[in-house]
Amino acid sequence: MKWLFSFLVLALLGVVHALSSSGSRLLVVLEEPAEKDKYSEFWGDLEARGFHLSFESPKNEKLSLFKHGERAFDQLVLFPPKSKGFGPSLTPNILLDFLKKDGNILLTLSADHPTPSAIVSLLLELDIHLPTDRNALVVDHFNYDTASATEKHDVLLVPLPSSVRSDLKNYFAGEGTVAVPRPVGQFLGNNSPLLVPILRAPSTAYSYNPKDEAEIVEDPFAVGEQLSLVSAMQARNSARFTVLGSVEMLQNEWFNAKVGSAGKQTTTANKEFAKKISGWTFKELGVLKVGKLQHYLAEDKTSKKVNQSSVGVPESNPTIYRIKNDVTFTVELSEYDFDHLAPFTPPEGDQVQLEFSMLSPFHRLNLSPVGYTANSTIFGTTFTLPDQHGIFNFRVNYKRPFLTNVDEKRQVTVRHFAHDEWPRSWKISAAWTWITGIWVTVAGWLVFVAVWLYSEPITAKGVKKTQ
Ligand SMILES: *[C@@H]1O[C@H](CO)[C@@H](O)[C@H](O)[C@H]1NC(C)=O
Ligand SMILES: *[C@@H]1O[C@H](CO)[C@@H](O)[C@H](O)[C@H]1NC(C)=O
Repeated sequence: MKWLFSFLVLALLGVVHALSSSGSRLLVVLEEPAEKDKYSEFWGDLEARGFHLSFESPKNEKLSLFKHGERAFDQLVLFPPKSKGFGPSLTPNILLDFLKKDGNILLTLSADHPTPSAIVSLLLELDIHLPTDRNALVVDHFNYDTASATEKHDVLLVPLPSSVRSDLKNYFAGEGTVAVPRPVGQFLGNNSPLLVPILRAPSTAYSYNPKDEAEIVEDPFAVGEQLSLVSAMQARNSARFTVLGSVEMLQNEWFNAKVGSAGKQTTTANKEFAKKISGWTFKELGVLKVGKLQHYLAEDKTSKKVNQSSVGVPESNPTIYRIKNDVTFTVELSEYDFDHLAPFTPPEGDQVQLEFSMLSPFHRLNLSPVGYTANSTIFGTTFTLPDQHGIFNFRVNYKRPFLTNVDEKRQVTVRHFAHDEWPRSWKISAAWTWITGIWVTVAGWLVFVAVWLYSEPITAKGVKKTQ
């Protein structure tokens, strides 16, 4: 009973606290307590979304991301340190361990405080390159805020990003312009499939060091849309790591600030953008959840349970099928949307697919929505099993940028026909000649026997007597 009770308590706690899908303990590593107030709107927004914020200085000796070998926090926000680095409790190794244990990290950079070299090499390992010049920042002589950066052109005005690719969901879209003050541009390598740029610099921007006295910038680190101002990495365990090029864009000052460019006055969308960035990083957006996964014989009308709510109902799928059976497969997918689960719809041009595989897939089929519940979409398809017996998997392997990875498998045995399952001979038209042959022979034999039995031999009486 005890375990049941503690389970219930845990479940209740889960209901109360589960606003983010991955935990609400958030640690902010911030060196100057005085800085905190400049970001109060951002903190207020996070608290309103159910996060419990703790603030720590990187100099605190007792600071630890782990307790008894488990994560002590679920989310981590790193502010650029004033000193040379984050100190011994936040080494790149510890940060990677934090990611490996499903923690999420929002790393902010600032051109005013050079990025510590340990962080630069950590980013390099993730294939995110920072300018070698520690003081470099991104400027743009066309898209700058005329109110606050008349001289230096270092407050960039960038429209909210459009989708990186047409078949991807865009969680950061919207109407409006974000102000990005004094950003550190990142250059993303081509080799990592885990990296995606969230916000790119305008095509007229470039990265340079203002302390450099030279009049002309020769050989800039990167230019235009090569520069990413906000980049995202999602690890294979779906832990998220976001690099925000400009910490200042989270300040109150820039939330709904009046900015102007080319004579036009606009209000910045920084607040909305900050919510989306933090929401995505802390797994409030783009989190997929697999509900019930079912498969059954298509003829088997009794087990058709599509669009019944499946919460808490155990799966009871068959473990064995025969080759060439018609099988129906359904899977329930939901997507987390800030505070509740909503039905998942793949973006246009993308499909959730089912693989029926033994070593390699024998079938790879598109799944289409066959029903909806309040919190999920049920995707399904019906197909004929291949003419091959063995151990197979029903597998849904759906991995896309910005979405958590889905890889679900259910193993089944596919057997061959039992001896009494083959079609009877008379159902095979090609056999009719031979069947007719057999029965003609049988009939012929019977006729012959009858004729033989009833035909008396002809005897001559006279001849017999003489013998
Ligand atoms: C299911 O959807 C409803 C309606 O959108 C929502 O109110 C509810 O919180 C959702 N349930 C879960 C578990 O997310
Ligand atoms: C169940 O599915 C049918 C069609 O497949 C649909 O018309 C109906 O609205 C669904 N019911 C619920 C409760 O989703």
